[in-house]
Order: sequence, then structure tokens, then C-alpha cells
Amino acid sequence: MAILVTGGAGYIGSHTCVELLNAGYEVIIIDNLYNSNIESVNRIREITKKDIKFYPTDLIDRDYLESVFLENKIEAVIHFAGYKAVGESVKLPLDYYHNNVTGTINLCRIMQKYNVKKMVFSSSATVYDVYERGAICEDFPLKAYNPYGRTKLMIEEILRDLYVSDDSWSISLLRYFNPVGAHSSGLIGEDPQGIPNNLLPYISNVAIGKLPELQVFGNDYPTLDGTGVRDYIHVVDLALGHLKAIEKVLSTIGVNAYNLGTGNGYSVLEMIHIFEKVSGKNIAYKIVNRRPGDLAICYADPTKAKAELNWAAIRGIEEMCKDAWQWQLKNPHGYRTLESPKK
Ligand code: WQD
Repeated sequence: MAILVTGGAGYIGSHTCVELLNAGYEVIIIDNLYNSNIESVNRIREITKKDIKFYPTDLIDRDYLESVFLENKIEAVIHFAGYKAVGESVKLPLDYYHNNVTGTINLCRIMQKYNVKKMVFSSSATVYDVYERGAICEDFPLKAYNPYGRTKLMIEEILRDLYVSDDSWSISLLRYFNPVGAHSSGLIGEDPQGIPNNLLPYISNVAIGKLPELQVFGNDYPTLDGTGVRDYIHVVDLALGHLKAIEKVLSTIGVNAYNLGTGNGYSVLEMIHIFEKVSGKNIAYKIVNRRPGDLAICYADPTKAKAELNWAAIRGIEEMCKDAWQWQLKNPHGYRTLESPKK
């Protein structure tokens, strides 16, 4: 019996596949490589010394997707596949709704047809309404402010309606805060295409000299030093949270949402200083205007995941930065080798 991982060649997907294989699961990846590189699948094999089946397609191709279920005995699905850039989603909403929502509906239809009714869904803290005070709990109001976040929220609602229509489904909705870092081997990591949108890969690019300086988006927020505060979580802790969620869906029914965060917040300036300490490099930065849509503060209350999944993040902020820096040093061009074509 296998676990199907859609988007398994991606950043969080590849780290999750490593932990699934290490835990003894058989793993199958579907990935269209739109925002990932086939090299990450080779690295998964290298780290675990185990094989993994890979299907180079996406969820829009229903016939190909069905063939995967015909060829394999699938027990449960971890569903990562989806476009995830907030800014891009504002420019290309139809692409985001088609790829993320239609793709998920296709997946659920095929799962239903083959009686595979156990899913862990990659959701996001983006589904929470603006909340500028303290830790966010799973029962907080939900509201999306961009097409990317709306696809995540729509998919959560679709999955809840699916369970209402058929209560033999078992679904965990995992709401990520800010995943960062890399596997301790330095063989897999975050490999954004072009200029990174997110803070840590951008800082890492400045540290290695690929980018001249970091633009700090505002220092007039109501926080300790005026810069944005986020709940950064080590990607391996996040991956291990998926293993706990798979155990949960394999043994229960129902739909449950869980925050996967540390419960701690760090500001942009704190992240710069920690990364400088860990890398020994100076991170040049300039304070600029706020980025539209950014919140001042966003961090998790991870109590529910601890109580119901028996999961908690254990890796600290320095380890996150150290592992991110090691990945950068070992892979200055990400998965693209100097010979391979720039994607
Ligand atoms: C973190 C902090 C920025 C870049 C995003 C998505 C969210 C989720 C996680 C998918 C903020 C500041 C950043 C830079 C900066 N992705 N910053 N200069 O915005 O919290 O969340 O990634 O689910 O959907 O929105 O992460 O890393 O972009 O920003 O000052 O060049 O760093 O203002 O305070 P964010 P981020």
C-alpha cells in the first residue's frame, strides 16, 4: 500500500517524502515540475537509499491521473500540488483557480472512484482573517485576501463538503506558517525560481553574493523593532507533522484543521542578525516601504496539533538558518547544475 504525494518534488513535498520513506512507507510522486526540479527526486533516493515512483504530470490530466491509481495500490494522499505565489496569483487568478481548485476536484473524483478516502491537504495560515494581536488558533475567523489564499480556503471548504456528502472520508487540513531551512544533508532545500519572494531564501542569496542587499519591507509596524514578525518553522519539523497527520487519517474519519507552526515569532531584523551569526556573513539591507498585503504579526497557537497529532516543532531558529545556509553553500544554483538548462 502506498502514499501518493502530489507535488512531491517541491520544497515541502520532497522533505515529506524523505520522512515517509524513512518511516517505511512506499511513496509515489506526481509532479508537473512547474515549480520544482526532477533532481530533487534523485536527491530523495540518495538520502534515503530507497526507490520512489515518479509520474511527470499534473492533476489537470484526468486520464493520466487515473492511470496512476490503476497501476498502484494507494492507501492515502498527501496533496501539495498547487501554485503558491501570492503576487503571481493576483496577476493570474484564472490559472490559480484552474490549477489549484480544478486540480483538487479531479484528484478527489479519482480518489472517490478508487475508494481512496484519506487525504492530508497542504493548506496555509493565509486562510486566516487578519489578526494582529496574538497566537492564531484553528477556530479563528477565515478570510482570504488574494486569489492564492482563496484557492486554499475554497479547497478546505470543498473537502468539508465532501465529508458531509460521504462521512467515510478522513481529511487533515494542515495550515503552514512560514516554512524555512533544509534537510541536514544539504541535498534538498528551497529552490525558488528567479528572485525569491520569501525572506529567508532572499537573505541566503544576499549572504552568498547572488543579490546585493535585502529590502526590508517597512520598519513602522507595531512590533518590537518595527519590522514584520512571523512564525518560522523548520521544513523537517513540518514534514514530520505530515507523518503524524497521515497516521491520523489512516486511523480515523472526519475533517480536522491543524496549525503547523512553532508558536514563536521572529522579526525581519532578528532573522537578519541570526543569519549573520550562523553564516558569518554580513547581510546588507535597506529599509523600504511596506509590501502591500503584509501583516505586522502572524504566529501560531500549535496546541491542537500537539494534543491531537502528538506533534510539536523541535528545531530552533538557529538550526533553521544553519540548514538553509548549508543548502545554499552546497547548491549555489539550487538544483540546476551549471550544465542544466535554466528553468
Ligand atoms: C516574511 C517577512 C515580509 C521578503 C508568505 C506567503 C504565505 C506563505 C508563506 C504559502 C514579512 C518580510 C520578505 C523580503 C522582507 N506561503 N520580507 N523582505 O509573507 O509571511 O508569507 O510565505 O502558503 O502564503 O504570503 O512570508 O517570507 O514573504 O515574508 O522584508 O524581501 O519578511 O514583509 O514581514 P509571508 P515572506
